[in-house]
Amino acid sequence: MKALIDELIEVTGESYVSTDSAVLVGYCTDWTGHRGGLALAVVRPADAREVAAVLSICVNHEVAVIPQGGNTGLVLGAVPDLHASTPVIIISMVRLNTIGSVDELSGQVTAGAGATLADVQRAARAVGWEYAVDIAARDSATIGGTVATNAGGIHVIAYGMTRAQVTGIEAALPLTSPTLIDHLGGLAKDNTGYDLASALTGSEGTLAIITAVRVKLHRPMDRTSLALIGTDSYDTALRLISSAVRPGIRVRAAELMDRFGLEITLGLIGQMSPLSQEHELVLLLEIADGGDASGFVADELSERDTVIAVDAANQEQLWSLRERHTEAYSAFCIQRGLAAPHKLDVSIPLSRLADCAQLLNDRVRAHPGVVVFGMFGHAGDGNLHVQVCGPAANDESVAELILHTVAECGGSVSAEHGIGRLKAKWLPLSRSPHEIAVMRAIKAAWDPNGVMNPGVLFSE
Ligand code: FAD
Ligand code: MLT
Ligand code: ZN
Repeated sequence: MKALIDELIEVTGESYVSTDSAVLVGYCTDWTGHRGGLALAVVRPADAREVAAVLSICVNHEVAVIPQGGNTGLVLGAVPDLHASTPVIIISMVRLNTIGSVDELSGQVTAGAGATLADVQRAARAVGWEYAVDIAARDSATIGGTVATNAGGIHVIAYGMTRAQVTGIEAALPLTSPTLIDHLGGLAKDNTGYDLASALTGSEGTLAIITAVRVKLHRPMDRTSLALIGTDSYDTALRLISSAVRPGIRVRAAELMDRFGLEITLGLIGQMSPLSQEHELVLLLEIADGGDASGFVADELSERDTVIAVDAANQEQLWSLRERHTEAYSAFCIQRGLAAPHKLDVSIPLSRLADCAQLLNDRVRAHPGVVVFGMFGHAGDGNLHVQVCGPAANDESVAELILHTVAECGGSVSAEHGIGRLKAKWLPLSRSPHEIAVMRAIKAAWDPNGVMNPGVLFSE
């Protein structure tokens, strides 16, 4: 171990290698407070060259590696396995946070993997562009982490997942000598073999360490109307979303919250509901209609219990009702002495969303030990975030029930958070044995020494 640590220090300098357990525990605990195992050390390289050097030292010492960005992931992909048998080093990417200047002609920008999503969004906005991916963890999540997890967020309905934004990548390969691949040109057309940037998008640290990404930007949509709409069913909500799409009008976001989630979030932020009644479901619909609340808003919503926000301050207030849900569930459960919420991020075909939501509701509420059950999420793309409190943190029965029900509905066991360590055993519910065999062969090709994030994506 000493030789390993000395070699790492030689690359990054003593200040950027820590074996102190008081420091390590923060890197080994995920956002929900779930404690993973303890890593041997955390290393914070300064640039891609140092990342490649650190990675090859780990390969040569046969030590596993966990690349870590903002550690906001929600499937235990960035923290060591509690029962890890193999020693592991966490390589934190946060120092690679340089953001290049925006290429005005192509509408692209290159950023170091450790730049936060919020900083990339700010850099784009500063010169009249917009980076499409937006998630509530934007201030801590890194752009490299969002590529590694193919993050979704609130604008998928308008712009697609992170994969749709990536136009180039630089990455360090897990080989015995420091090796970087650099394909950051961002050419609109570049049909020269396999798309390695796309292969690394969603790879969750199991193939290589992303050191920089090039992403496309968009010209901001014109002003929007943000409507908070009380509805009575998933079918009504989905009908409202589809009727909002009209010639020249784009839906920028379509989020759903159930009554319980809205109630505890209003409690967390100390606000009263802006709606005049209680509803089983509340839809938050953002429409790029010039912000004059015309067309759909005037036609469809005038008879409904609705609040419309067009100026930034009021829109921000409505957004906080949705964005604070994650926090509200954690606080609600922990304040009642319950374990942290079981959080299942799933996607369901829109045509089956209403039935599947009912099935989940009936089955989970009847499951032994369930005290709290709620769902919210990105309704426009069929992505629900199922939250359950009551069963102990290590009780997998509720995840088993939910993921099998979602598979029964033709859905995916992971919509946007990835598989991580949390869902590796349920991967076969969404991918066939042949697909998993091909994915394992791809992993073996990229990571011949098997050091990259063992236990993530594939159960050991
Ligand atoms: P980490 O958590 O550090 O790592 C995540 C995974 O990526 C791990 O497997 C890690 O090994 C790997 N990884 C990280 N950096 C690299 C790298 N440079 N190279 C290779 N592998 C790497 N996610 C969504 O998709 N949509 C949402 O709406 C959303 N909302 C959220 C709201 C809250 C409040 C929170 C806490 C989380 C939310 N997330 C959401 C989950 C999380 O923010 C995303 O998964 C995000 O992409 C993780 O980025 P990160 O930098 O924190 O990555
Ligand atoms: C969200 O959309 O808020 C996130 O994906 C986080 C969560 O699932 O809690
Ligand atoms: Zn989400």
